[in-house]
Amino acid sequence: MKTLVTGGAGYIGSHTAIELHDAGHEVVILDNHSNSARAAVTALRSLTRHDLPFVECDIRDATALDGVFSEGGFDAVVHFAALKAVGESTVEPLRYYDNNVAGTARLLDRMAAHGIKTLVFSSSAAVYGNPAAMPINETCPPDPQSPYARTKLIVEELLRELQAADPDWRISILRYFNAVGAHASGAIGEDPCGVPNNLLPFIAQVAVGRLERLSVFGDDYPTPDGTGIRDYLHVIDLAQGHLKALDYLGRNKGVFVHNLGTGKGRSVLDVVRAFERACGRSIPHRIAGRRAGDVVVSYADPTKARDELGWTPKYDLARICTDLWRWQSTHPHGFGDQKA
Ligand code: NAD
Ligand code: WQD
Repeated sequence: MKTLVTGGAGYIGSHTAIELHDAGHEVVILDNHSNSARAAVTALRSLTRHDLPFVECDIRDATALDGVFSEGGFDAVVHFAALKAVGESTVEPLRYYDNNVAGTARLLDRMAAHGIKTLVFSSSAAVYGNPAAMPINETCPPDPQSPYARTKLIVEELLRELQAADPDWRISILRYFNAVGAHASGAIGEDPCGVPNNLLPFIAQVAVGRLERLSVFGDDYPTPDGTGIRDYLHVIDLAQGHLKALDYLGRNKGVFVHNLGTGKGRSVLDVVRAFERACGRSIPHRIAGRRAGDVVVSYADPTKARDELGWTPKYDLARICTDLWRWQSTHPHGFGDQKA
């Protein structure tokens, strides 16, 4: 298959591009580098020992998309390109709607014009908001709590309407839980801009000495150790989910929604201890106040992905931490090291 990976220089897109390439796909990467380094593409090429085609362009640029698709031969698009910072989306909602919603609409329009009607879309567990019951399955009513999460839900609805209007479309909506970890080679990984918002990148930067200490956002939640609980999924397991979704779309027309998560909830302190074991250092931390907008507990019911896609995650929290530490300890400043 010839597959376009939008946002393929980013965190999840780059790991998925490798897995697709290794599985025999002809991969073309597209990214505007709004949240990724050029060095990520270099690393992908050296890791795959292949001169992976890369197009620097924006998904909102119809002419550039036409240029890519008119090369011909594309079977599918795996669509990661989006802005993803929840807090930032509350400050710059227009930018999020333009990039994530209008950008996706433009991409779909140009795909249709070139007869490409197979898409895997990166949605998010954020669409569920604060569900009443755990684990979360796909029938749980969506209740997005931020402009970011709403952009994901709006695109999901757009995709359903598109498929209803043209039943030739084959669309997989994957709702990811917390993507973490790095490629086992240590050559690529997550490289957040500025101070990380997310737990594991923050802990990894504390371990490597870039940050002084972790603030644990609340230890008075109604959970066994009082800290928040999430479903942390190795990025390679997540990448593999996309391969399974593409296989599924090869056999089925329609719009399909699947959670990608492990089904296991881990607390903030579980993660701190697991990372300490992986890196052999202690992670200085202090208890801070709760972070506004945080849910208490969130973990997936991944049964539907297992039964329909044949997808089961392989890697546990220990492996997530080992792989993340290999990346962080060899690239203390992320891809910035390679730019220097
Ligand atoms: P990321 O920021 O590392 O990757 C996104 C990539 O898309 C970046 O390289 C960025 O430069 C590119 N991009 C953004 N807007 C673009 C545009 N208009 N045109 C071209 N390229 C553009 O983020 P990620 O963590 O790899 O997330 C990938 C996808 O998964 C996103 O859609 C995100 O919303 C979704 N997601 C991520 C998580 C997570 O835990 N990281 C969880 C749920 C959903
Ligand atoms: C995990 C836990 C925090 C940082 C976010 C987005 C979601 C998404 C993934 C995109 C929570 C605690 C964190 C810190 C801490 N992706 N924490 N100290 O909030 O589940 O999800 O990223 O779709 O939309 O909302 O992930 O990693 O930020 O937090 O104590 O410095 O770690 O309170 O309990 P979250 P996270």
